[in-house]
Amino acid sequence: MRNFDEHNITNAAIDSVREARSPRIKEISESLIRHLHDFVRDIEPTQAEWKHAIDFLTRAGQMCSATRQEFILLSDTLGVSMLVDAINHRLPSGATETTVLGPFHVAHAPEVANGAMISRAEEGPPLLIAGSVRNLQGMPIADAVVDIWHADDAGFYDVQKDETALSSRARVRTDAGGNFHVFGVVPAAYPIPNDGPVGNMLESQGRHPYRPAHVHFIVAAPGHVTLVTHLFLQDSEYLDSDVVFGTKDSLIEALNVAPAELAARGPKPQESMAMLQRNFVLADALDPRKPQRQLI
Ligand code: BEZ
Ligand code: FE
Repeated sequence: MRNFDEHNITNAAIDSVREARSPRIKEISESLIRHLHDFVRDIEPTQAEWKHAIDFLTRAGQMCSATRQEFILLSDTLGVSMLVDAINHRLPSGATETTVLGPFHVAHAPEVANGAMISRAEEGPPLLIAGSVRNLQGMPIADAVVDIWHADDAGFYDVQKDETALSSRARVRTDAGGNFHVFGVVPAAYPIPNDGPVGNMLESQGRHPYRPAHVHFIVAAPGHVTLVTHLFLQDSEYLDSDVVFGTKDSLIEALNVAPAELAARGPKPQESMAMLQRNFVLADALDPRKPQRQLI
């Protein structure tokens, strides 16, 4: 193998993976090479531009830490996370739609009882977050785990602040009727972390870094497809220009007034309280006996 030029290098690179460890690795490697070479032929970068691209990826890697994942932000802001999500969630009609996970989920958030306050009072006006979990036939699912997290009224997650205790996040289980409720605070729209290379990229692409106000949910129950989604607040800015392309009409909810008897059990019993309410619908899990595509 020698004497490569712009006409034969692509086939040579594809041929180099013919003995890949698995058919899937071969398929992915061949496609990656083909598309990457086509990209380079399309843009015909100067050597300075290619060095700039390598420097960009290097800075993205250097920005990553236990609490910062620049490559997820890159995937999110280029629409790739939502594309992967869509490909993997071709759910039956009636099931609640999915959206991006984002980088601020914390595994094993504290499990709380229904009716718990999950935010610190100073984080914003109280919000009753309530709903139910049902299957496609409308039957309530008891003991489903509803993992909830959201930003405060200044647009910050607990993990972005200099605090040791978690806040505005918890896991709650549905009761026998499939219902759950907790008290959080009304979250604000916020910019994704934009002090790194992804922020520079957005600026040079003429884009803002904001996401509309939302509350995140992961809803899990045995025998059902785990749902990763948000509810977006109807009055929020940026619903039509979410920097990570995550907004869906079916996930937008208006804030209503919480029923007085529930608001009375919240952190400010005398005041009227906003309520975000949704009945989540889970699809049935895939049949485990059906053959799945071989993993890498
Ligand atoms: C979020 O909603 O938490 C999020 C999603 C994608 C990128 C940054 C933040
Ligand atoms: Fe978020």
